[in-house]
Amino acid sequence: MPRILILGANGQLARNTVPFLLEQPNVELILFLRRAKRISNPDPARVRIVEGDVLDQAVLEAAMQGQDVVYANLAGAIAEQARVIIAAMQATGLKRLIFISSMGIYGEVPGEKYRSVLDPYRDSAALIEASDLDYTILRPGWFTRDKSVSYQLTQKGEAFRGHDVSLNSLSDLIVKLALDPALHRRSSLGVSTK
Ligand SMILES: NC(=O)c1ccc[n+]([C@@H]2O[C@H](COP(=O)([O-])OP(=O)(O)OC[C@H]3O[C@@H](n4cnc5c(N)ncnc54)[C@H](OP(=O)(O)O)[C@@H]3O)[C@@H](O)[C@H]2O)c1
Repeated sequence: MPRILILGANGQLARNTVPFLLEQPNVELILFLRRAKRISNPDPARVRIVEGDVLDQAVLEAAMQGQDVVYANLAGAIAEQARVIIAAMQATGLKRLIFISSMGIYGEVPGEKYRSVLDPYRDSAALIEASDLDYTILRPGWFTRDKSVSYQLTQKGEAFRGHDVSLNSLSDLIVKLALDPALHRRSSLGVSTK
């Protein structure tokens, strides 16, 4: 029965993924976000909403109490966010982290450089990879609203294939990762439409 803390719960991909997670009968969620009044609780028996900023380590540690999985769906100062998340997980004894990043952080997309715009994503991945957490970093292509679930994975060190991926594909993968702590443990995966 995984208890999953979703950081950045008002993000586009997080909002897409919550219904996928709630299809699983035994999953419980905390939706962690700034300005919580923006969302309504989809299932009060299994979902709690917590208002907070990820950069506030004390608030984050309080939200992590009793959780099994941290699913980080963040943007912005993502390296600093990763640093605080890692510290809070270490302080609370949590191991499993699913972290949404981006394609291109290792220069793995043929013909694309992405340069400094991805520096915070590179830095956050390096911090996570250097930690002792059971992380899975997802490096998606551009999100699409295509309803289908169809994706291929590439490992770190492999060239990225394709350029986009449906939100539903990512949500499907996130559910699998949240339910199985060993799945793609300590991996950084490119995700694109098959
Ligand atoms: N869109 C694409 O095609 C694409 C492709 C590849 C990778 N990505 C990356 O995938 C990630 C997820 O995408 P998305 O579309 O779901 O992102 P999004 O809609 O921009 O959501 C990111 C969320 O992070 C939250 N956040 C930022 N700083 C925070 C903080 N200090 N404390 C708490 N929450 C904070 C934001 O909260 P507020 O609402 O409060 O600002 C926002 O809801 C992003 O990093 C994005 O760059 C996107």
